[in-house]
Amino acid sequence: MIDKIQKIKDEIEHKIINNNEELENFRLNYLSKRGIISQLFDEFRKLDPEYKKNLGKPLNDLKNLAEQIFKEKQEKLSERNKNERFEIDFTLPSYNEIIGNRHPISIIRKEICDIFEHLGFTIEQGPEIEDDWHVFSALNFPPEHPARDMQDTFFIEKMPDILLRTHTSSVQIRAMEKTPPPLKIIMPGRVFRNEAISARAHCIFHQIEGLYIDTDVSFADLKQVLLYFAREFFGKNSDIRLRPSFFPFTEPSAEMDVSCSICNGKGCNVCKYTGWLEILGCGMVHPNVLKNTNINPEQYSGYAFGMGIERITMLRYAIRDLRLFFENDIRFLEQF
Ligand code: PHE
Repeated sequence: MIDKIQKIKDEIEHKIINNNEELENFRLNYLSKRGIISQLFDEFRKLDPEYKKNLGKPLNDLKNLAEQIFKEKQEKLSERNKNERFEIDFTLPSYNEIIGNRHPISIIRKEICDIFEHLGFTIEQGPEIEDDWHVFSALNFPPEHPARDMQDTFFIEKMPDILLRTHTSSVQIRAMEKTPPPLKIIMPGRVFRNEAISARAHCIFHQIEGLYIDTDVSFADLKQVLLYFAREFFGKNSDIRLRPSFFPFTEPSAEMDVSCSICNGKGCNVCKYTGWLEILGCGMVHPNVLKNTNINPEQYSGYAFGMGIERITMLRYAIRDLRLFFENDIRFLEQF
């Protein structure tokens, strides 16, 4: 038994205890009721008195040593835990929190939508993947119209009827099919055209479309709402002019210019010295479009307009390259 005691003494003196788990294992192994030392005491009790004489003291010493080692290691560990908590240096400078902001396109889209919402328009949205009917046929595009050409439109391969919408006018059709007049909606959205990417064109861009259908809607109503928009968006002194144009889905059709807000109409390099900036396309909804969506053109009339958000954003912030909107360069985006 004396050998056993010596062996355990060596063992516990060299035990490595570096964490709480090892400390707990030490306690279970040596100090608990079922631990090695308790077992030795049990054996000791069964011994003849003459053996006990020489073993009592070494056994007690072993127990005390184990308890002492346990205590020391316990104190050391709790000290170390305390110090670890203060290894964080509170005097170090903190990182700057990077706060995100809206994309310039989103800022301008919201501004435009807000102006029309004040006039009672509500926002309507439609799918980006469309069919020929909603993008072209219902909008009175003849079958041979060049916009249907592969050169302008992204078709879904193997399904010639399915395509990426080339304008938000498709949402007009969906809204008219769904809701009987009166209708007073604006439709912001992403559109896609098969164009070479340059400073002035991209294959993805954004439009906002407007549509008002009711009894007795006239061209004068259209002109008035556009003038109101121009003055709200570009400033109180803005003026507009309408030039005759053509769209298959409006008759008559026009393009609207706004007086150049940079030179106040005097002429500068942004308005190419004309004093005017081209902003949007518009017109009275073509009777065929009303018929295609089961609205009686004898009873109802309406106007529609559509504008490119990139172009208007470029004018507002004097941005010269449209590609910047799509590159997600933080140095550009954080300026808004
Ligand atoms: N959809 C036309 C375009 O993409 C714009 C437009 C909308 C014109 C509504 C007239 C009426 O150019």
